[in-house]
Amino acid sequence: MKTKLHIAIPLLVLAACAPMPGMASTPSPTIAIIESPRVAPTLAQSLRGAAFDRKILIGAGGANPDPLRTDPAYGQTMAREFSALTPGNAMKFGPIHPAPDTYDFRDADAFVDFAQANAMQVRGHTLVWHDEQPKWLEQGTFTRDQLLAIMRDHIATVVGRYRGRIYAWDVVNEAINDDGTMRESFWYKTIGPDYIDQAFRFAHEADPNAKLIYNDYAAEGSGTKSDAVYAMVKGMKERGVPIDGVGLQSHFTITPPRLADIDANIKRLSALGLDVHITELDVRLRLPADAAALAQQASVYRDYLRMCLANSNCRMFVLWGFTDKYSWIPGKFPGFGAGLIFDEQYDPKPAYYAMMDVLNGK
Ligand code: XIL
Repeated sequence: MKTKLHIAIPLLVLAACAPMPGMASTPSPTIAIIESPRVAPTLAQSLRGAAFDRKILIGAGGANPDPLRTDPAYGQTMAREFSALTPGNAMKFGPIHPAPDTYDFRDADAFVDFAQANAMQVRGHTLVWHDEQPKWLEQGTFTRDQLLAIMRDHIATVVGRYRGRIYAWDVVNEAINDDGTMRESFWYKTIGPDYIDQAFRFAHEADPNAKLIYNDYAAEGSGTKSDAVYAMVKGMKERGVPIDGVGLQSHFTITPPRLADIDANIKRLSALGLDVHITELDVRLRLPADAAALAQQASVYRDYLRMCLANSNCRMFVLWGFTDKYSWIPGKFPGFGAGLIFDEQYDPKPAYYAMMDVLNGK
């Protein structure tokens, strides 16, 4: 599917706005576009424009294929404001590999094409997870070797299809429990704890230039889980496993983990030679949200982005969505919502202006 965009940012400048942090070269994107009745910002007025030259990608995650096709403001706003995107579900095992010999790449292709057309980088999400798996996989009976072969084949097929077009992959998602033990997922039980190393090796085989990331929640700051993630990735580095970084999901409330603790965690990961991506930030509010709550929310976005920018290994700052219109929060946390930086009418909220201020050095 080709999506028509309506934005008025000069194309060459726009293309220059999606650097690949930590990568040698930026491929020159092909760009289709122009003409804009609704949105005609100058470059400096968009997040991606303000982030230009800051060695950080600003991303819209949880990207949803339906509004990309039906709600023009969705794609327009995303392309105008963000230099990266993460498909919400399209690349998960269940949706993309629904039967043993069937892959469905339609939505994933749409996002990769859209990103390329708009000079955005893509985070691939996610290859190996305990959730959103197809029935054939979850209910099948496999030996260790059979399941390793399935994993390798899946990774070779999905990562291989987009080789050279995806900046980073969340190779393994949420493998550790809150108490720091390994989650006894289907993968763990059949393959054993080395399934994680194996997944990273397979991903590296399939695209040696993609950044390979371990992604998890509630491991942002200090604590048992964060220590367990740190210990695991340290071991991976010592064993020579091709891991490039850790994703901190960051599904927050207005009382997030202490920023000093997250800062210390990012620094200890840096000392291992690892990048950090903020991968799924949202700051949910109890509904209805009043002006005071929106201001507190803006502070969380402001302080977190400032801290990320202050760490050179913090290379991506990705939200889980960007407009409250399509957020996962109300479905997941009843009574909560309004967690993103644009409201349901695509109007910027205080959190948006807070991010702009930080990116503009204020
Ligand atoms: C969520 C999606 O946003 C929802 O649409 C889906 O129903 C469930 O998954 N951590 C992750 C994401 O890594 O994949 C999850 O996305 C949110 C939590």
